[in-house]
Amino acid sequence: MVKIALDGPAGAGKSTVAKEVAKRLQMTYVDSGAMYRCVTYLAIKRHVTMQDETGLSNLANAMQLMFIPSEHGQVVHLDGVDVTDAIRSSEVGALVPLVAKHARVRECLVEKQREMARTAHSVVMDGRDIGTHVLPDAVVKVYLTATLDVRARRRHEELVRQGFTGSVADVMKLLHERDEIDGRREIAPMRPASDAVVLDTSCLAIHEVTAMVVSLCQARMHNEVRH
Ligand code: CDP
Ligand code: CDP
Repeated sequence: MVKIALDGPAGAGKSTVAKEVAKRLQMTYVDSGAMYRCVTYLAIKRHVTMQDETGLSNLANAMQLMFIPSEHGQVVHLDGVDVTDAIRSSEVGALVPLVAKHARVRECLVEKQREMARTAHSVVMDGRDIGTHVLPDAVVKVYLTATLDVRARRRHEELVRQGFTGSVADVMKLLHERDEIDGRREIAPMRPASDAVVLDTSCLAIHEVTAMVVSLCQARMHNEVRH
């Protein structure tokens, strides 16, 4: 059983790298952020406010989530419906850190995340608190980061492909606000674990970051086998 934790702010490259690492090392990829996004998506649809901790944790408890590997990455099914694109909207992106602040929502989702890790043979999980809280015994912990400017440009390109008409500055503002809330919240704030490798990806191409993370995983896994 091998556990790999990838954390860091939005647009650092976590999910792209995690998917590729999972493919190359034949591991299960768990996108913990998608779980917070699904609760937020349901809350918007069902008119549950972002302050209603009980209502939000009920949604988190009741939702049935499935991550289905596909040719283009991963498809997210929420209560039997494909929400892969819907949960990546800028509306969900703006509200998700307000949902992720609540202790009872986090308890419920962390339990689901640990259960997924238990049932998978080997897992790569990305998020904000995977190395510090969800999988503290992960054999590899990487904290990916990049400047706000670079991350906003990357995310802007993605959103434009989905029909977003705002500017890079709009995206920068959204990311900055999200980083602030994620980094300052009381419970499991976004930060590198004390034993994480911190990698600034600002000037690195995605294949370079992937290669670094894969070789780190291979070295650590090799070491584990020897000891
Ligand atoms: O893909 P991106 O980096 O934009 O975000 P994400 O990984 O989909 O996560 C969306 C949001 O969920 C984050 O901004 C956090 O508010 C929350 N989150 C969290 O609190 N803890 C995690 N382990 C993962 C995500
Ligand atoms: O999951 P996270 O929010 O950390 O980032 P992502 O969704 O994996 O990456 C956001 C976008 O930046 C994707 O379109 C990646 O292909 C791109 N990216 C890049 O061009 N170079 C990197 N070193 C990392 C990500």
